[in-house]
Amino acid sequence: MTQATATRQSLPAGHIAGQPLTALAPMQDVTDLAFMRVIAHYGAPDYYVTEFFRVHAQSRPEKHILRSIDENDTGRPVFAQLIGEDITHLERTVAALLRHPVAGIDLNLGCPAPKVYKKNVGGGLLREPGRIDEILAALRAAVPGLFTVKMRIGFDDTDAFDRILESVDRHRADLLTVHGRTVKEMYRSEVRYPMIAHAVRRVRCPVLANGNETSAAAASRILEETNAAGVMIGRHAIRNPWIFRQCRQQFAGEPVTPVTLSEVREYVERLYRATQSPEFPERAHVNKMKKYLNFVGQGVDPDGAFLHDMRRVTSEAELFTVCDQHLLSASDRIFADEPYAGVIARPNCETPTDQTCSL
Ligand SMILES: Cc1cc2nc3c(=O)[nH]c(=O)nc-3n(C[C@H](O)[C@H](O)[C@H](O)COP(=O)(O)O)c2cc1C
Repeated sequence: MTQATATRQSLPAGHIAGQPLTALAPMQDVTDLAFMRVIAHYGAPDYYVTEFFRVHAQSRPEKHILRSIDENDTGRPVFAQLIGEDITHLERTVAALLRHPVAGIDLNLGCPAPKVYKKNVGGGLLREPGRIDEILAALRAAVPGLFTVKMRIGFDDTDAFDRILESVDRHRADLLTVHGRTVKEMYRSEVRYPMIAHAVRRVRCPVLANGNETSAAAASRILEETNAAGVMIGRHAIRNPWIFRQCRQQFAGEPVTPVTLSEVREYVERLYRATQSPEFPERAHVNKMKKYLNFVGQGVDPDGAFLHDMRRVTSEAELFTVCDQHLLSASDRIFADEPYAGVIARPNCETPTDQTCSL
């Protein structure tokens, strides 16, 4: 055993010893400090991961993302995610981030936004397994503590998957998250869980399965199918922030506590207040809320009536009137634990998709 392996740091313990791990997926413009706190209120995941820090010649770690590390009072560890391909600047950024209370450093090998992958970063790098190998070698050397990787299964096919897994393994990543889609498959295709199961067999580190864990029951099924060490959940935690607590119940074999629509009304209000800021005009904030509510609406009613009305509001007062109409009129009705089929979360027209890594 080399000295490096002898002194390897272990992953932070989860909430409940022996249970599969849970993590909130990094989501640009979503998983900031305010959102992490809201999630913690309903039951924090074992791990958080920041939105990605962009790394290039002129980059400095973005202040608003640093807040999610420096002011993290959720009680759970946060990993700092980087996106970039220039080794010198990645190393410089790692050194800067290690001065903050990070649980570890994560490399993004998955972002599918064309304006990101065209720069050969994020998912774009999956076309160059040789380059990934160099980056992983450099980052492993630069990170004395935990170094983790989050990847998709390929760019437009999965031909390089094994080669990249071999690099992840050889450079001793401490944790690997696999989103079971290629970059070209974006977010809506079926998730290829057998590919995640394959990764679990190919690398020595724990693997988190990612993609479409729509409920605690789904998370459990995916864990069984993939044999992964845990789950990383993104959009379905926006829809259902109780999901991590529900996962813990499910993993313990306990009944999963259902959520009522009046609790969802309370969540919307909490999220609204937590993400509000004096510099942000009301109309802009209402539009930002629509991004979250797009997901929440998938569990409210099977016809998408809440989503229809919510997408048309232009003020805080209108927003809460719509919430009251749909969430308080039958407030003890159960919030669906799986999204209703056919109720699609889509970006609202006020949210230009080319500006983010989002849907
Ligand atoms: C709005 C949005 C922003 C995202 N931003 C990031 C990001 O910054 N870093 C990253 O690795 N993945 C990002 N992703 C991908 C998610 O982390 C996750 O891999 C993907 O949503 C699949 O998981 P889910 O089905 O649980 O949502 C983003 C996804 C969404 C929907």
